Amino acid sequence: MGGRSDANPRRVCRALCYASGMSFPPSFLDELRARVSLVDVVGRHVQWDRRKSNPGRNDFWACCPFHSEKTPSFHVDGRRGFYHCFGCGVKGDAVGFLMETERLSFREAIEALAQEAGMALPAPSPQARQAEQTRRTLHDLVEVAAKFFEAALAAPGGATARDYIARRGLTPETVRRFRLGFAPASRTALRDHLAKAGATPAEMAEAGLVIHPDDGGAPYDRFRDRLIFPILDARGRPIAFGGRAFSPDAQAKYLNSPEGPLFRKSGVLYNLANARREVRADDTLVVVEGYMDVIALDQAGLRNAVAPLGTALTEEHLALLWRVTAEPILCFDGDEAGQRAARHAMARALPLLQPGRSLRVAFLPNGMDPDDLVRAQGRAGIDGVLTAAMPLAEMVWRSAIDAGPVDTPERRAALEKTLLQQVGGIAEPTVRGHYLADMRDRLDRLFSRGGPPKPAQRAQPARARRDGRFAPPPDLPASAGVRRHALARADAPLTTTMPVERLLVLTALLHPELLLTEAEALAECPFADPELDRLRNALVAQIDQVDRNRRPDTAGLRAGLARAGLGEALDRLERGLRREASNIAEDTLDEIRLGWKRGLCKIWEATLEGECRAAERALESEMTDESWSRFLALRSQLEAMKREMEPSDPLHEPQSTPGAALAR
Ligand code: UTP
Ligand code: MN
Repeated sequence: MGGRSDANPRRVCRALCYASGMSFPPSFLDELRARVSLVDVVGRHVQWDRRKSNPGRNDFWACCPFHSEKTPSFHVDGRRGFYHCFGCGVKGDAVGFLMETERLSFREAIEALAQEAGMALPAPSPQARQAEQTRRTLHDLVEVAAKFFEAALAAPGGATARDYIARRGLTPETVRRFRLGFAPASRTALRDHLAKAGATPAEMAEAGLVIHPDDGGAPYDRFRDRLIFPILDARGRPIAFGGRAFSPDAQAKYLNSPEGPLFRKSGVLYNLANARREVRADDTLVVVEGYMDVIALDQAGLRNAVAPLGTALTEEHLALLWRVTAEPILCFDGDEAGQRAARHAMARALPLLQPGRSLRVAFLPNGMDPDDLVRAQGRAGIDGVLTAAMPLAEMVWRSAIDAGPVDTPERRAALEKTLLQQVGGIAEPTVRGHYLADMRDRLDRLFSRGGPPKPAQRAQPARARRDGRFAPPPDLPASAGVRRHALARADAPLTTTMPVERLLVLTALLHPELLLTEAEALAECPFADPELDRLRNALVAQIDQVDRNRRPDTAGLRAGLARAGLGEALDRLERGLRREASNIAEDTLDEIRLGWKRGLCKIWEATLEGECRAAERALESEMTDESWSRFLALRSQLEAMKREMEPSDPLHEPQSTPGAALAR
């Protein structure tokens, strides 16, 4: 990564980075890769195309399992152990394939492959072994408790709980499916039961089942006289409980297990283990607020609902959802609190969006939760709400325009600024570009009061930021003249001296009007050469100070650089590029712009490639979900970058790059 990445600390989407426990040593993974046949793994999901495949070379083709197609463009390179679809662009190795098709976590995929290859997982360290042992004991303990609660519900003492369940309209089948239970109104019923099963007081406390008072008094059961909702992990094992009071004036309506070695609220969604089994290719997950909502929806036949556990949705929750489906639907109350929760979720989600990966947002009729709605209107009621779910972009827009009237230029400007800020939070450049274009469109339509859309209004040149976000430079029609521009021509592989950096600085100096719109893109570009970095920074800083009504000029910039002590550096630069300088000075602004864009792209591509390689190495030594996500995030940025750089087909309209909006 080197020093260059300093300028871009936030570029890599951090959000998916949740450690997943132990890492696997590289030797183990190498051996696993060598022993597992990707062709076998993929072969269970696809039908090989006999004519196109070449088994002798371990080279196979099939219709892609990730998108629908009629002719095979999905390629498996059995020797290298990689797949790639030329249709939709997916690629990866056996681990990635299992994660995608069977919706496994990184660790689960490794375990599955190891089992298939007949390899034992590497022996854990003594500490890891101890921790694993503890977890296993606690899992067993929580399972014993779950069975205890279930039995108590069925026993004579569970009559009130059974009445309550019946009043809420839950069927015996639902009770079984969700393993609902009853915690008797006793201080020690569960404790005694667990003790008989051989659990120690410390284990009962660690599992969150028994409370040890600070004053040293006798330990007692956490859940007493409550309806019990077991909370399962992704593999369907109980790890915690929620308990609902029967009486409306109980101190807390719901009580949950405390966090512990098995249970972290922010990493668990209620009913995820069941719901993810229900999700088919074009289906989605529905996120609601409470246990009872999930259960009522399930009973109404909507089995793909999940809920966080009394907390707002976290980044980790989003990552869990996106592992199952590209566009989960979040359901919120129609009231002010629901709106707030929706805005909170939106803010969490924006930085994490990826091409094709988003959210939809649905609002319930005021004062009703999904449980109420299903009881009042049946399945149709909730279906109506879900069908009306709005795309996240719509939510971004609405939450901005709902803030107040836009009847003055200042208020319109404030709206525009709010939107730009929101959209600026999107880390992924392609998605950000499309959001910008979308918001620009909406603004145009709003400000022209429903008239025909005007040509895009230009945003004020954004102040140069160095926060590591990449705004794709604008795409411009290519012409023969443009192609001969120095920057456009510099398509030889980049060397360490990065001539492109020098050309960019020189171009900015000779065509200063470019800086009015490109200062930000220039500021963000990761420069390798420290001297060019200083020159670039000084240029950008001057643009920040230039009076908007006065165009910057080359002479002024030169003087500024000299004042900043960079006169000699500038001389050196210009001496080395005399011929290019005269070409650049002659070029028209259109020609310059295209070359400029390609220059920026080249630098980004080189940087991302370097980071991708580093991430790949990191992945080999430490195979966690975290390093895997980082690698994927970098690779998808690199691919977005490469798409940007593909020369446009002269027979077709030049592709417009919405990302240009901010840079313009
Ligand atoms: P709600 O108050 O909306 O309850 O809380 P609910 O799910 O509709 O339940 P019923 O219909 O009244 O039985 C939503 C979620 O917030 C958490 C629980 O996870 C609950 O399902 N919660 C609520 C708590 O953790 N503690 C509370 O005291 C209340
Ligand atoms: Mn409710």
